[in-house]
Amino acid sequence: MQQQSIKIDLSDRSYAIEIGTDLLGNVANVSDLPKASSALIITNDTVAPLYADCLRKALKNSYQQIECLVLPDGEEHKNWQTLNKIFDALLQNQCDRKTVLFALGGGVIGDMTGFAAACYMRGVPFVQVPTTLLAQVDSSVGGKTAINHPMGKNMIGAFYQPQLVVCDLATLDTLPARELSAGLAEVIKYGPIADMAFMEWLESSMDALLARDRTALAYAVRRCCEIKAWVVGQDERESGLRAILNFGHTFGHAIEAGMGYGAWLHGEGVGAGMVMAAELSQRLGLVDAGFVARLRALVQRAGLPLNGPVLDVVDNAGRYLQLMRVDKKAEAGEIRFVVIDGPGRAVVRAAPDALVREVIDACCS
Ligand code: NAD
Ligand code: GLY
Repeated sequence: MQQQSIKIDLSDRSYAIEIGTDLLGNVANVSDLPKASSALIITNDTVAPLYADCLRKALKNSYQQIECLVLPDGEEHKNWQTLNKIFDALLQNQCDRKTVLFALGGGVIGDMTGFAAACYMRGVPFVQVPTTLLAQVDSSVGGKTAINHPMGKNMIGAFYQPQLVVCDLATLDTLPARELSAGLAEVIKYGPIADMAFMEWLESSMDALLARDRTALAYAVRRCCEIKAWVVGQDERESGLRAILNFGHTFGHAIEAGMGYGAWLHGEGVGAGMVMAAELSQRLGLVDAGFVARLRALVQRAGLPLNGPVLDVVDNAGRYLQLMRVDKKAEAGEIRFVVIDGPGRAVVRAAPDALVREVIDACCS
């Protein structure tokens, strides 16, 4: 399979996303790596036994000193304590301003490594090597880095761009099926917000994606990265347009925080959250029932939950509203939702609490 390259155009912060198979073991030839004498691979205890040796060997002619830090796996570890382990390793190994951090893993490793890179010595270079579908189509691209706070998802972080993203599709072979489905949620979102032709392609290609057909995966990763590059190139710091990439996330983040990080996967929250956001769009008179039904069908075929969980048996909608007020899109305590205002188009807007309650009551079980 031919290697494909997509550029994120951000003047002096521009970089390439390289997509292909078996890139990990050949990473020094895939693209120019940041020059330095030392590198730190940051990964977790699930991914390390699978891929850390391969990456380390592939880097050995590019860096004199290569260390590997293995963190505990899981969304519940995306916090200050784990972040501090990265700073400890950087200091213990006398890493300097040029030391390159390699984020080897899914979105949790990518978000934490990126945040550590933004902070250590006020900024060191980092390379994203995403090994989940979700990270390849979304989290490794665009420079959002963060950790969670018990009161809100991704609330502490920074915009900090990587210098290179290397998506090796072969790593997806070892991904558990549940994680593949979670990644498909972020794939699906690009259709309704930006590209109905892509949504149609997904409707006809979902079986191939679930079967991990390399050609289908390569096209999905490429198209998602192209759309994300187009959005991020116009609005790097989310002063407007970029918020559409959060379709389904306002409800989804409430689910993740409300259930306790790790109970629902991020992509599962986004799956059920997109259904809720589509239902809200319909109640606001922006899309018809046919559109909502199409989105529901796609979410279901991807193996994702259609309904959100009950977070509070006494006042479930009230609990969702309380959690959703702690959202980066909220302004002056008013929750703002990404809604679909016509197939392939999204906007951000507030909605009456009563309508949101109606959606939550209809969509949680
Ligand atoms: P994850 O990082 O937890 O990875 C999912 C699971 O798969 C983990 O258990 C991981 O160890 C395992 N894994 C990773 N690669 C594997 C492989 N090749 N084979 C076998 N197992 C593998 O979760 P995720 O879905 O990749 O990312 C979710 C995170 O990304 C959330 O924290 C979310 O907030 C964040 N996110 C960030 C952005 C952004 O723009 N920065 C966008 C979307 C999501
Ligand atoms: N995942 C949303 C964003 O990158 O903006």
